[in-house]
Amino acid sequence: MLGCVVLLLVTLCTQGGNGEDGQTPGHVSVVIVGGTGDLAKKYLWQGFFHLYVNHVSSGNTFSFYGGGLTPADKAKPVFFEILKAVNCPKDVSQERCALLKEQFLRLSEYQQLKTIEEYQDLSKHIEQQLQQEGLSEAGRLFYLSVPAFAYADIAEKINSSCRPTSGAWLRVVLEKPFGHDFRSAQVLASQLGSSLKDEEMYRIDHYLGKQVVAKILPFRIENKKFLDPIWNKHHIERVEIVLKETLDVKGRIPFYDQYGVIRDVMQNHLTEVMTLLTMRLPVNLSSSEEVLQNKLHIFSSILPVGKNQAVIGQYQEYTTQVQQELNKTKDHISITPTFAAVLAHIDEAQFEGVPILLISGKKLDERVGYARIVFKNDIFCLQNHNSIHCKPKQIVFYFGHGSLQYPAILVSKNLFKPVSKDSEWKEVTEHKDVSILGLPISDYYVQIPTEQREAYSELISYIFAGRKDSFISTENLLASWGMWTPLLSSIASSFPRIYPGGADNGDLLNVRLIGKEISYNSEVVIINNDQMGGTSANGFQVMQGKFRGADLVSAWAEELVERLAADLQGAAEKAVLESGVFHLALSGGSTPLALFHRLALHHFSFPWRDTHVWMADERCVPVTEFESNFQNLHDHLLQHVRIPYYNIHPMPVQLNERLCVEEDGGRLLYEKEIRKLVNGSSFHFVLLGVGYDGHTASLFPGSKTDKHGESLVALTESPVKPHQRMSLTFSAINRAHEVALLVMGKGKHELITQLSRVEDNPEKWPVTGVKPSDGRLVWYLDYDALLG
Ligand SMILES: *[C@@H]1O[C@H](CO)[C@@H](O)[C@H](O)[C@H]1NC(C)=O
Ligand SMILES: *[C@@H]1O[C@H](CO)[C@@H](O)[C@H](O)[C@H]1NC(C)=O
Ligand SMILES: *[C@@H]1O[C@H](CO)[C@@H](O)[C@H](O)[C@H]1NC(C)=O
Ligand SMILES: *[C@@H]1O[C@H](CO)[C@@H](O)[C@H](O)[C@H]1NC(C)=O
Repeated sequence: MLGCVVLLLVTLCTQGGNGEDGQTPGHVSVVIVGGTGDLAKKYLWQGFFHLYVNHVSSGNTFSFYGGGLTPADKAKPVFFEILKAVNCPKDVSQERCALLKEQFLRLSEYQQLKTIEEYQDLSKHIEQQLQQEGLSEAGRLFYLSVPAFAYADIAEKINSSCRPTSGAWLRVVLEKPFGHDFRSAQVLASQLGSSLKDEEMYRIDHYLGKQVVAKILPFRIENKKFLDPIWNKHHIERVEIVLKETLDVKGRIPFYDQYGVIRDVMQNHLTEVMTLLTMRLPVNLSSSEEVLQNKLHIFSSILPVGKNQAVIGQYQEYTTQVQQELNKTKDHISITPTFAAVLAHIDEAQFEGVPILLISGKKLDERVGYARIVFKNDIFCLQNHNSIHCKPKQIVFYFGHGSLQYPAILVSKNLFKPVSKDSEWKEVTEHKDVSILGLPISDYYVQIPTEQREAYSELISYIFAGRKDSFISTENLLASWGMWTPLLSSIASSFPRIYPGGADNGDLLNVRLIGKEISYNSEVVIINNDQMGGTSANGFQVMQGKFRGADLVSAWAEELVERLAADLQGAAEKAVLESGVFHLALSGGSTPLALFHRLALHHFSFPWRDTHVWMADERCVPVTEFESNFQNLHDHLLQHVRIPYYNIHPMPVQLNERLCVEEDGGRLLYEKEIRKLVNGSSFHFVLLGVGYDGHTASLFPGSKTDKHGESLVALTESPVKPHQRMSLTFSAINRAHEVALLVMGKGKHELITQLSRVEDNPEKWPVTGVKPSDGRLVWYLDYDALLG
């Protein structure tokens, strides 16, 4: 069938000689595998048509093939519809455009490409054509616009049966995703490596085709004399690389849910921009090798990015969309992030300590992409705050969309007036009156491309020119996965913060940098049951309700702990305001450790100076032993906070070199201290856990707790070692202003289920004896404990 196609090769004015870029002109065969797919339809054919238009008089001849799995008779009509829709560049006259389009259509055909024989046929067809027309072959360009799982197989077919004749080049273009993490990227790279040489592979990152992104290095070089003195930690306050999108991922979930925002745009687009901004300038910008080496150097200097350097979010409708598109039941939850803010640091003297923020998300308030370098402003303005010297100093690489709508490079007028030696860029002074990242546009020098070009068209022209610096080499790819993979694994089971989407996100996704860490600015988000539209069990929010007639706060473990810590600080501040002091009783066990860490690391404004810390219970062991609750409390909390030592009240379990002997009077001593210091013996806050057997503090099932009477402190017996304990009694606990019961983990689910059903029976279920007489009881249950 192919053999019968007669190709009319029209070259308008063959000039002969060398083509551009020193390549020997000749015949070029372009094959888009997946040639009727979405990307091909939207960008690729358009890009190749422009390539054709720009090179039609270069001495090269072309033929174009759309390849696909669909048989030719079915695919052809679709294919030609796509080709007919291409547009000419603006500077081409209508008449000439019509002629060029007609030629382009004649040079194009559809070819089914499924089996190895079909690839062989294609190759034979190209060779016959070369022979018939007496052409020499310049090269073959394969654009694989197919899912990544098909790459290795297609590359193998190309290698075994579709390589060009000797002397001609082969270029195979690939689109992300290039793997899922370091390992899978490595596997894919080695599979491809067995069929293609590194120089034959062109991995596209379409961001590198964006005119502003491609201009970053030239801009840095052209303005070197201004930038050299300020492109460093002494002057740069921070770097932000931001890609905000308004769309959601409906319709793409089967792909997206396996990737999420970090793999989708951060590991590639935003990371590439980061390297262009921070890498050492190449001496020779045209040397892809030097550009690559300098990029790799930056990758090797990036400090490890871990859990504390990232926050993640997910738009609220996502879970429902996942359930629909993946055909899952209502209890299926996806924790794939659709928003992330990541903080990177570069371990180089030049950028030491400069925060580099990478942020992207779906369903945000506006569509915009930019990289901004914010400079420190060391000028104090006594008056005339609107004078240019008092304003922020920044350079913005504006990728497009947003309020400006076109790509531009903006330099605050109080920095310097940028130069451009590049005829493809021009300075503009007339523009609509908009504000860009906090400054009216009139406060910037603005440069824009003389002609706006589509990223794919740019990249296609780079591929044709063999410009490898605009593509992702294997080393570059693996270095980038090397940066992201540890973070991806450390957050693999983290729950994203849910956001409503669009303008409603408000301040919810604002982030805050604290030293080398990043967190959401607002610590907890409380969404009530009714706001959650009856899907409460599926949400990750903090949920409020009732449990055993008392208040219930529930969330995934991390947010629950955040919430409890915030509540605790709230109680402390209130108590200190009212009575100048906060009396807190804490119990032992492993459950509160996460809370202690949270308090130690995030609550710097906690009024520790006015806080007294008491023990709810203690094991009868020397305080220096690891089993000691006090030892634990000391190690995980007290040693990290500024609390006066005389405000710390360990239980006197060891007296007269003996442990918990009634005659030594330890429990009475503690009781006396409580009565003396704590107004009405009412602690402001008592934090308790619940054991698998329902015990709380050290009040165990089967013990006759009523015999404690009005005593505040008792010696008790545990069924497990160490058996002897000292504990606050119910009368001490129930006098408190507030009691929190913290229960976490799947292992406690059965207990919680039982507790939800049983009557009060402190002898069997000691925790049911916790009933503050005037105070408030709050259960803090994580979803694992509550829902199993
Ligand atoms: C391509 O295939 C040939 C055999 O057909 C093989 O020798 C070669 O290693 C393959 N890979 C490359 C990169 O040429
Ligand atoms: C810069 O690199 C290009 C590509 O490798 C090379 O052709 C050119 O000669 C180099 N220029 C200089 C001045 O070294
Ligand atoms: C979706 O689920 C329904 C009911 O469980 C089942 O009948 C159907 O085959 C599933 N469809 C897909 C695409 O998995
Ligand atoms: C002690 O508590 C009582 C009753 O709750 C209260 O009226 C009094 O003001 C408190 N005293 C101090 C010093 O806070």
